[in-house]
Amino acid sequence: KAAPIHERYEESFTIGAAVEPHQLEGTSGKMLKRHYNSIVAENVMKPINIQPEEGKFNFKEADKIVNFARKNNMDVRFHTLIWHSQVPEWFFLDKQGKEMVKETDPKKREQNKKLLLKRVETHVKTIVKRYKHDVKSWDVVNEVIDDYAPNSRGLRESAWYQITGTDYIKVAFETAKKFATKDAKLYINDYNTEVEKKRDFLYNLVKEQLKQGTPIDGVGHQAHIQLGWPTLKQMEDSFNLFTSLGLDNQVTELDVSLYGWPPRPAYPTYAQIPYEEFKKQAARYNDIFELYERLGDQISNVTFWGIADNHTWLDDRAREYNNGVGKDAPFVFNPDYKLKPAYWSIMD
Ligand code: XIL
Repeated sequence: KAAPIHERYEESFTIGAAVEPHQLEGTSGKMLKRHYNSIVAENVMKPINIQPEEGKFNFKEADKIVNFARKNNMDVRFHTLIWHSQVPEWFFLDKQGKEMVKETDPKKREQNKKLLLKRVETHVKTIVKRYKHDVKSWDVVNEVIDDYAPNSRGLRESAWYQITGTDYIKVAFETAKKFATKDAKLYINDYNTEVEKKRDFLYNLVKEQLKQGTPIDGVGHQAHIQLGWPTLKQMEDSFNLFTSLGLDNQVTELDVSLYGWPPRPAYPTYAQIPYEEFKKQAARYNDIFELYERLGDQISNVTFWGIADNHTWLDDRAREYNNGVGKDAPFVFNPDYKLKPAYWSIMD
């Protein structure tokens, strides 16, 4: 039987996987119990699933994951309290059903802002109170930086931002802090945190928020990476930068795509992926885990955005750009949960 990944990294950080509730059963469930000591919901804890209508919380699917974690003694990462994507429209409609972003009257804009911040508070409070004894790490806000944003600070101009400025960030963290347990950690999570321009926008925002007293404990680095991008140096510099602010780092959505961006050429089926690619991927996994381990004091968790190559969101992305054809293979287990070369390189 293959040695558990989490035991290999016990001294450094916990090892997690993102899952849908149906993956808690069968072979994937067994893999979860054996190789990981942390778990995160791939979708069911996002705003659209957890509060699809105002005041109607749906905890059924999220509970399955939390119960599984409890039973198997795993940590839970909560993903995600606030995000611009997979969020229901009702958040941004005023009491008359008008889109808040279209409001031009200054007085009404002020009322809308208040209403939205109240909704942030209620959303965060209700969830945090329910899961506080199970969740160790909270993604409080996700992807609030957009390096292509028209403003000079790289702030994503989502509806949250257009209606409240950066107050939604502050209120989300403050509310989470108020209701979470003392030892829980609060994260600001984003992708491409290794890329200098985006990294610095994130750094400046976090620094400014910390100065204002916003209770941020760490940065979540999604790490949707590729065989040759970003560089190890970019990764290391980013961890170091956030550590210099006194923050923890977590790697929250790791996958190593075989493709560039946009994903071309996509191999149509798994069988068509040349073995050479898996060797390159193993070398890449070796390098990044070596880095993570060396920076073990600065990184408290490494989470894969899936378990095995039979289930990855990257397939949807590959197909989207290749007329519905394409298979990616980002993990250390193959579609039959067998060990790939990458498994051996991270276990060495
Ligand atoms: C993705 C899921 O994996 C997909 O199943 C879903 O269709 C879209 O969202 N950044 C994030 C994650 O923070 O929540 C996203 O997850 C992947 C990118």
